[in-house]
Amino acid sequence: MGEIEGSYRVLPTPGTRLGAQFNAGISTLEPGQSLSANMISGNLYLFILILSQMLIPLEMFTIGNIMESDYFGLEFQNTQMNWVWLEPTKLIMRQVRRPANTLFRLSVKFFPPDPGQLQEEYTRYLFSLQMKRDLIEGRLICSENTGALLASHLVQSEIGDYDDAADREFLKTNRVLPYQDKVEDKIMELHRRHLGHTPAESDFQILEIARKLEMYGVRFHPAADREGTKINLSVAHMGLQVFQGNTKINTFNWSKIRKLSFKRKRFLIKLHPEVHGPHQDTLEFMMGSRDQCKIFWKICVEYHSFFRLFDQPQPKNKAKLFTRGSSFRYSGRTQKQLVEFVKENGAKRTPYQRFVTVY
Ligand SMILES: *[C@@H]1O[C@H](CO)[C@@H](O)[C@H](O)[C@H]1NC(C)=O
Ligand SMILES: *[C@@H]1O[C@H](CO)[C@@H](O)[C@H](O)[C@H]1NC(C)=O
Repeated sequence: MGEIEGSYRVLPTPGTRLGAQFNAGISTLEPGQSLSANMISGNLYLFILILSQMLIPLEMFTIGNIMESDYFGLEFQNTQMNWVWLEPTKLIMRQVRRPANTLFRLSVKFFPPDPGQLQEEYTRYLFSLQMKRDLIEGRLICSENTGALLASHLVQSEIGDYDDAADREFLKTNRVLPYQDKVEDKIMELHRRHLGHTPAESDFQILEIARKLEMYGVRFHPAADREGTKINLSVAHMGLQVFQGNTKINTFNWSKIRKLSFKRKRFLIKLHPEVHGPHQDTLEFMMGSRDQCKIFWKICVEYHSFFRLFDQPQPKNKAKLFTRGSSFRYSGRTQKQLVEFVKENGAKRTPYQRFVTVY
């Protein structure tokens, strides 16, 4: 069977606030600073030259204007071409083999159920860019009509009010949907209706539509169940989800889960006794490799901590905390802490600039 390599006790809310108090963030998105940002076909890629000086721990970087920075993370593409979250508390050189030759990108890490929980306009703007990336990459699956509606708000946020020639020109040079040609007229027809919407209003509309889609924020982690049936696992604010194709076949709310752990390629979900009945209390999934298993386990630990833990440490619970193997824990601020932080510091925010689309 082998030893448990990482274990995370899923404490009910309110629970212990785990991890260090890092305000740290990761990078800045502002052009012209030490990092350079570039838009390539709707993707926001960051080419972080500074990473070649890899001896600097990430928390040394300050976060430009992203006040709600903990919703975001930096991902890098590993040698298997999978995107992996960079850990802000670890040296880059311990995580990335050849940083100078690695592609990094800023991405949304935690998708809140309601974009109304995002307090800053700038945060919602960055979220809308993520939706744009997910749309074009075919991850934010939706009907073509919904796709066209999302696209129409994207167009409004980029070029303002409808104008036949400007719309055509924009759609000719910008890809926002994989099946764009087919729905171009529809996009323009819908765009006409958004007269007067500011970019901020358009971002809000995009997030309102996106959040209702089943695939909003869903990231697939391929696995197989005990019977060998192939499925995808995904973690969300409310718990774990199991997908077959694009259909959600099961959900495990955090309240039902007692512990998440992994042993080599095996990902284990231990349920509370009242959930599983007399039969099975631990669900087992087999993943492609130990690395993939660990990557998924870590993001689960982070999701639970971010959405479910409060900031008040409760030493009583901490004593009961059970860990073996990996000591990985979430190191950022929880969602609740972020809300409080913005309430206290919101007035200090600095203005930001939207990216200009390069034709
Ligand atoms: C799991 O997701 C991947 C895409 O990330 C997809 O290629 C694969 O078919 C999915 N597997 C199942 C069983 O749905
Ligand atoms: C999970 O919890 C949410 C509320 O957080 C609830 O609306 C939903 O019905 C629950 N789902 C299951 C499968 O228990």
